[in-house]
Amino acid sequence: MNVDPFQETMYIEENPYKNDMISLIVSLKEKVGALAKVLRIFEEKSINLIHIESRPSRVNKDEYEFFINLDSRNIPLLTDIIATLRNEIGATVHELSRKKKKDAVPWFPRTIQELDRFANQILSYGAELDADHPGFKDPVYRARRKEFADIAYNYRHGQPIPKVTYTEEEKKTWGIVFRELKTLYPTHACYEHNHVFPLLEKYCGYQEDNIPQLEDVSRFLQTCTGFRLRPVAGLLSSRDFLAGLAFRVFHSTQYIRHGSKPMYTPEPDVCHELLGHVPLFADISFAQFSQEIGLASLGAPDEYIEKLATVYWFTVEFGLCKEGDAIKAYGAGLLSSFGELQYCLSDKPEIQSLNLEKTAVQKYPVTEFQPVYYVAESFKNAKEKVRRFASTIPRPFSVRYNPYTQRIEVLDNAKQLKNLAESISSEMGTLCSALKKIE
Ligand SMILES: [Fe+2]
Repeated sequence: MNVDPFQETMYIEENPYKNDMISLIVSLKEKVGALAKVLRIFEEKSINLIHIESRPSRVNKDEYEFFINLDSRNIPLLTDIIATLRNEIGATVHELSRKKKKDAVPWFPRTIQELDRFANQILSYGAELDADHPGFKDPVYRARRKEFADIAYNYRHGQPIPKVTYTEEEKKTWGIVFRELKTLYPTHACYEHNHVFPLLEKYCGYQEDNIPQLEDVSRFLQTCTGFRLRPVAGLLSSRDFLAGLAFRVFHSTQYIRHGSKPMYTPEPDVCHELLGHVPLFADISFAQFSQEIGLASLGAPDEYIEKLATVYWFTVEFGLCKEGDAIKAYGAGLLSSFGELQYCLSDKPEIQSLNLEKTAVQKYPVTEFQPVYYVAESFKNAKEKVRRFASTIPRPFSVRYNPYTQRIEVLDNAKQLKNLAESISSEMGTLCSALKKIE
């Protein structure tokens, strides 16, 4: 029998895009009459349930989950009902809804498989080029872009990323970018980038005459930090893109810029991803920092998503860092641009210390060199700053990523906290025992 184990994470009727419906998952202890109690609460409020499904909880072994759909006209009663379910029968309740309404937490993926939903909600499909794009008038290039967009659109989590046979012209473009940038890295790129680059040359086919395959790079990253790549068909919203980082998933393009302008691209391409982003995602500290931004974004209100996207811009894309008395580049937008990599370390731009309250609201241009850059003391220090910033985001729960189940755990009930305490306690035991052995 051919069973897809991931399909099961969705309920049959679960669809966060249906605006006329409210969906709840109510989780409670498995015992006779438990469901009847839940149903009575809805009955007392004269609410008609449209759909109901049940299954054993994957998270808590003595609990059952009920997935319930009700008509959105019942929104005014919802807060009351959720409070009654929590307080009177000790249920854990999660509301699944993307619909904007007061105090509702925006939908976010709970499992790594749920990132598949993003493939269908891109802001623009990869083959649609603006009139000023260097490939706009080239039908061959446009057809090629469509091929790449289709690969990404049909991709599902867990599949290998399809390998691409790049054309001679595409390889030539890559070769020019690769050769030019490589001359600058020893003097301009941060230590971490220079440390990983030879490993990418050795294990992932980073060569002047070869465009590395995303699948090979993704496998390499997974052995370093657990980060993985996933192809993306077009532009994602900031909310969706940042959510991927919470799972250590980086949405990556696979196409290359137009051959007529090898040193310019108006959008991310495979040179930007592979030369700019990938080396840093192989660094443990940077990987933690990036995931921290992703975790902070889950369920955050729109205005905080914008702030986090700005923080991402001034760190992961255009960040500088201290290295002794020197300043080096670690942002992918810098490490993949021959011109801006030199400019950012010249005396022309303004350099400021990373300060998230300020950085998060800094305006920036997207089509020209940045007038201001922010310098991080270290990735560890930047991560702490993101944590502190995340604690100011108004959301009624904390989240944690569980790498074993590849799920986001929402820490909003005693049971979850107890599980977390037990897992930390077990790790502490390992730590103490290891410390004793090296004394
Ligand atoms: Fe980027």
